[in-house]
Amino acid sequence: MSQHDARTSRPDALASRLDAGFRLALIAALTPALADRASQVDPLIKAAANPQFGDFQANFAMGLAKTLDRKPRELAQEVIDCAPQSLRDLCDPFEIAGPGFINIRVRPEVLAAALTAMDSPTLGVSSANGSRTVAVDLCGVNVAKQMHVGHLRATIIGDTIARLFERLGWRVYRQNHLGDWGLPIAMTLASLRRAKIDISRVTLDDLNRAYRSAQAQGRDDEAGLAAARATGAGPHRIAELEAQHEGASAALADAHDTLRRLQSGESAVVADWQKLIDVTMHEVYETAQLLGVDLKPEHNRGESFFRDRLVPTVDAFVAAQLASRDAGALVVRFEGRERPLLIQKSDGTSLYATTDLAAARYRVQDLGAELVVYCVDARQRDHFKDVFDAVRLIGWTARADSTEASLVHVPFGAVLGADKRPLKTRSGENFTLKALLDEAIARGRREVHARAAIADSPTAALSRAELDAIGQAVGIAAIKYADLSSDVGRDYVFDLDQMVSFEGDTGPYAQYAHARIAGILAKATSLGITCGAIVVREPQERALALNLLRYPAAIEDAAAQLAPNRIAAFVFELANTFNAFYQACPVLRGADDATRSSRVHLCDLTRRVLADALSILAITAPPRM
Ligand code: ARG
Repeated sequence: MSQHDARTSRPDALASRLDAGFRLALIAALTPALADRASQVDPLIKAAANPQFGDFQANFAMGLAKTLDRKPRELAQEVIDCAPQSLRDLCDPFEIAGPGFINIRVRPEVLAAALTAMDSPTLGVSSANGSRTVAVDLCGVNVAKQMHVGHLRATIIGDTIARLFERLGWRVYRQNHLGDWGLPIAMTLASLRRAKIDISRVTLDDLNRAYRSAQAQGRDDEAGLAAARATGAGPHRIAELEAQHEGASAALADAHDTLRRLQSGESAVVADWQKLIDVTMHEVYETAQLLGVDLKPEHNRGESFFRDRLVPTVDAFVAAQLASRDAGALVVRFEGRERPLLIQKSDGTSLYATTDLAAARYRVQDLGAELVVYCVDARQRDHFKDVFDAVRLIGWTARADSTEASLVHVPFGAVLGADKRPLKTRSGENFTLKALLDEAIARGRREVHARAAIADSPTAALSRAELDAIGQAVGIAAIKYADLSSDVGRDYVFDLDQMVSFEGDTGPYAQYAHARIAGILAKATSLGITCGAIVVREPQERALALNLLRYPAAIEDAAAQLAPNRIAAFVFELANTFNAFYQACPVLRGADDATRSSRVHLCDLTRRVLADALSILAITAPPRM
């Protein structure tokens, strides 16, 4: 995934101090040869691949030697000789290895001091203090339909990206771009009205049935479907194109008529429409709560929110001479692209894309976002490419301070079943999200109850209700972590057995690592051992220290790359590093008071960093498991 240009990424604090020190040494050593270009040479500081060789490496010598026609090891030595005291103070004496790598080992007191500096409520993460603004398009369910597994990703990836930026102190606007104004909801509405179903008593099951039957009727139109398929567009555009086709079925004509009456504000239709929304959103909020996702009515900026902005949107494109007529419809054309963007149908109504144009304008111009992140299914890639290009063409990405806002689609892959095909129930239907979560919770509870039954288990004394609550947290964490730890753009296989396992790269493993540390800390308290000065002595203590110190950079990097999986990877690595530390370095039975209280301090920091990282993934971290 490409980095959006609101980049915040920089190396971790230690690496950037090394970077600055080496830069000074490079300037001092190279100025005779390179004059003012010396200051532009990159020291190329990287984390060392093997801890045996130190913590970091400076890799500039090889490339530079070629340019200057020098021997790399000699060059490396010259630069080292110029190292300022501020750099020498950070490290053990430098070693030159192989063709000219400089191995850097940070002095243990420096690591301890950096950890102490990190030990604050911010954990070393710096804050934009509301000076930067991002809008995150998340969830986007189509009203009058039950949430299925596809919405899981749009909801939790979006929530995590929003939390990442919140953690970095940005102003974050969550935008739930509900499908509540187009043909899909009109199809359901028409189908319910035709079946004379009392909409005030309608259940979600009724809605699903109505939606499916409306869809099935729409699909009867083979020609329309073929036309829609040929475009490769998302579900919205397919439905729209199906309906537009000449041979559209009677049901679609009916839906179309209902849509027209809704959009012109006919009160009976609007009232029924509102009831449909209430029924669906009730479940959406319940599911969001279960998932720990921050999604509330105030985040709704559905299609209907933009209804009065659609005509002005189209007018603006016409006035800017960016829209042209095509068989009565209005389209925006792009250079070198065959596919045009349809912004108004021949009957004068607007489309999914029109709403997205209005929404992008609102997010940049009204909300002031410098970055708009769209967490939407990869199948809508072309749609967003067209919409973003159209928004740029008309100049709506221009901000008041004359910078340009970035619009970025985070296209996520599908959730697959064991057969590597989109996850379906045995009868071939989409899994409802609710059914999936219920199953995961049941599995989580089974796991937690089984563990509590083992003698000496930290949960042995807990009540049934307490164990149920932990089991629920485990089940939800299992699903969320599996989703968030996979590369967003890729499909992944839904394997509940693997997801709920307490071993391996899973949510429960991360939760368990956290609970284990919480247990150690509780014991320390009962033994009267408190956090003391940090001393970094053993290699495993060093590894843990370096890992902890990378946390602020890991968050910034995940935000810059819009990649929640980097947070998950950090969590997994930290849990592993901690376990290795705990195995090698006795905490409560450390050799002396100073060692014990230093290690308790390391445990405390690790627990807080783990809990903080998990809170970005909105995964709860129970104190006992
Ligand atoms: N309701 C849309 C769908 O299900 C997703 C909305 C995504 N967001 C957007 N701004 N288009 O396909």
